Amino acid sequence: MSTLIQRKQPKRSSSKASIERLQRDARANIACEDNLNYMRGLSNESMNLIVTSPPYNLGKEYERRTSQEKYIENQASAIAEAVRLLDPKGSICWQVGNFVDNGKVYPLDILLYPIFKNHGLQLRNRIIWTFGHGLHCKNRFSGRHETILWFTKTDDYTFNLDPVRIPSKYPYKKHFKGPKKGEFSGNPLGKNPSDVWDIPNVKSNHIEKTQHPCQFPVGLVERLVLALTEKNQSVLDPYIGAGSTAIAALKHDRHAYGCDLNKTYIDIAWERIHQLRAGELRTRPMNKPVHTPKTKA
Ligand SMILES: C[S@@+](CC[C@H](N)C(=O)[O-])C[C@H]1O[C@@H](n2cnc3c(N)ncnc32)[C@H](O)[C@@H]1O
Repeated sequence: MSTLIQRKQPKRSSSKASIERLQRDARANIACEDNLNYMRGLSNESMNLIVTSPPYNLGKEYERRTSQEKYIENQASAIAEAVRLLDPKGSICWQVGNFVDNGKVYPLDILLYPIFKNHGLQLRNRIIWTFGHGLHCKNRFSGRHETILWFTKTDDYTFNLDPVRIPSKYPYKKHFKGPKKGEFSGNPLGKNPSDVWDIPNVKSNHIEKTQHPCQFPVGLVERLVLALTEKNQSVLDPYIGAGSTAIAALKHDRHAYGCDLNKTYIDIAWERIHQLRAGELRTRPMNKPVHTPKTKA
């Protein structure tokens, strides 16, 4: 069993040494590097989608806690580079939660929104990602959502709804009057998934869990990749962690770009990429409904 990917992940045949040599191949360019350095090496307007979840300045194992002003300044530098790299028809999805200081909550999307607006970007959705697991708070309600700010650079942007439709609640409902009477009223491909996404977060029993403490569920990124890019386009995550964004991009025949400061996470990312290519990586299906435990009467 791999030491990088904790459990339920099958063994990969290639050796650790071969992972270490790899920084890029034909479809994936995933490096252990500071994101400003990494992004500065990429060309203007070369990315079709930039999707990421930065640290929240909470003092987690992968970040050093700093003042809120310094944190916002650092985010502004990363966002400026991301905007430079974005194709005119492309999208940026910045996924954040709250900065919490002494029991006081500061929603990071509210703090970061003006930075994107100052670059002339347009907000298309503020997606609520809701999930069932997390800390139980004693002096406020337990946090069970984070947000994804989806911005576009122009009004002419890629948006493909059909690949991300979800099953309708009443697929056999028909028009009961008018010229379409008797015909199905809903789209046979399903309905718009809305801007509230109920997707389990990657906690200890999740099949995607690795050593990384705060992974994206792959299904969350898949929805963004499928809706906001076309095949063979490029997807970047400048805080790529265990590579979930790369997995979602490669799974759907896009090119994956990303970096992380932490070597262990980059090794995990490459290991997952190899497993994906070998058909051995387990991911939770994108639209799988959330499990509701049976309660005893
Ligand atoms: C919230 S985690 C992202 C996890 C990722 N979404 C995943 O699915 O695994 C944030 C990541 O940013 C990385 N990081 C922090 N500062 C960075 C920087 N300046 N450049 C590159 N990566 C950085 C951390 O090591 C951490 O893995």
